[in-house]
Amino acid sequence: MKRVRKAVLPVAGLGTRILPAAKATPKNMLNVFDRPMLAHVVAEGRAAGIEHFVVVVGRGQSAIEDYFDRGFELESELASRGRDELIAQVRADLLAPGQMSFVRQMSPLGLGHAVWCARELIGDEPFAVMLPDMLMDATPGGLAQLVAAYEAVGGNVIAVEPAPEGEAHKYGIVALGAAVSGFDGRLAEMTGMVEKPAPGTQPSNLFISGRYVLQPQIFERLAAQEAGAGGEIQLTDAMIGLLERQPFHALTYDGVTYDCGDPVGLLRANVAVALKHPDLGAAARAALLALL
Ligand code: UTP
Repeated sequence: MKRVRKAVLPVAGLGTRILPAAKATPKNMLNVFDRPMLAHVVAEGRAAGIEHFVVVVGRGQSAIEDYFDRGFELESELASRGRDELIAQVRADLLAPGQMSFVRQMSPLGLGHAVWCARELIGDEPFAVMLPDMLMDATPGGLAQLVAAYEAVGGNVIAVEPAPEGEAHKYGIVALGAAVSGFDGRLAEMTGMVEKPAPGTQPSNLFISGRYVLQPQIFERLAAQEAGAGGEIQLTDAMIGLLERQPFHALTYDGVTYDCGDPVGLLRANVAVALKHPDLGAAARAALLALL
């Protein structure tokens, strides 16, 4: 079985739910307490053993490349002031040279299209997809749990999570078959997927929560470039096609997902990360309690 070494991070969407915040700053560069949303997700990927990140960007998102590059002027200014501890902080999220690549999605035609834009950089090996606006609060990290499941069953493995009561119709929902032993009932064969089922028709209450391990044959499905729900090229549609040929499993991962794509979700993520922060958590708690 081939190891999962690469991850695709699609960040080229318009971010309509969080405008105007995402107008001049890429959505994934919005702050989650102490660093941009995307930096939290890259850290989760590194903890899962990812060695190469392919970031699918749109126009006006050069701030992302700058964040993951050396801040030469900033660092020399800090050095001249003897602030070495700050230099270490601004370098903390940098990867080794060559571990991050960028590819442009020239029009935001949908998540499936964004993933397809990464095909040449992924090549013929299994890979992860991480939606950076879905922040996973989990130990071990969400992707590490998914990779462990993949190493047990192979094929394609998707992270899922229970949808809030009465909200399944807002999400991509999975249908499940037999459970895989050794995972406390959390890993099961996946028999189907449905994007935003009509209320009351959902096959389960488990939604696809933004982390995937996929086989490269998904690119053949995506190449058809068929528009689905909302007129967008959907990753879910390509996965439904691949399900006819390859096994899929769903892992109900152990943790909580924060959807940072809307203002309230981003606020929840900020609070959750703040409260757990090793140095600033106590001060954050006191500030929040005072506000409440
Ligand atoms: P979302 O469904 O959150 O879409 O995409 P969005 O455009 O970012 O936000 P809304 O719904 O309009 O508010 C999930 C992930 O897929 C990326 C997004 O940037 C986000 O990280 N994406 C989506 C692309 O890279 N390209 C697309 O064409 C669509």
